[in-house]
Amino acid sequence: MDESKTLNQYLCQAYFSEISAAINYLSIFNNCSGLKREYLASIFKDEAAEEFGHAAKIADRMKIKGFTVPGLSEFNLATQGAIQIESMMTTNAILSYLIVDEIEVIKIYKSIIDLTKDTDPGTADLATQLLIDEEEHLSKLQHLIGD
Ligand SMILES: [Fe+2]
Ligand SMILES: [Fe+2]
Repeated sequence: MDESKTLNQYLCQAYFSEISAAINYLSIFNNCSGLKREYLASIFKDEAAEEFGHAAKIADRMKIKGFTVPGLSEFNLATQGAIQIESMMTTNAILSYLIVDEIEVIKIYKSIIDLTKDTDPGTADLATQLLIDEEEHLSKLQHLIGD
């Protein structure tokens, strides 16, 4: 597969991962009342907005690269690692799922950086900025799960 097709595939994965993360954060924020809510709610609300913002930045980049921003029909729950947050889940179970999601999206950004660092510094730079945000999310979640 040529570099352009591979990049398009990675950007699509990152785009849907960001959206599914945002959906999960909104779901937790609004549905899980037993979830140390006062402590976690503001974190998850802010995180949801940030993840939507990441998706928008990726969509902008896809347009710049001449790719088509995928629609909902291309969103595949099975391949996005999307999780169904249940209000009965324990706080730590929810955090564990979110940690897995953050680790997955970090892998995607590292792959984008590896692919583009020599040929497409603009995309590599965006992926690096997003990677830093995701590493912060991961660190925050790992601290929360330890509390
Ligand atoms: Fe993100
Ligand atoms: Fe994140």
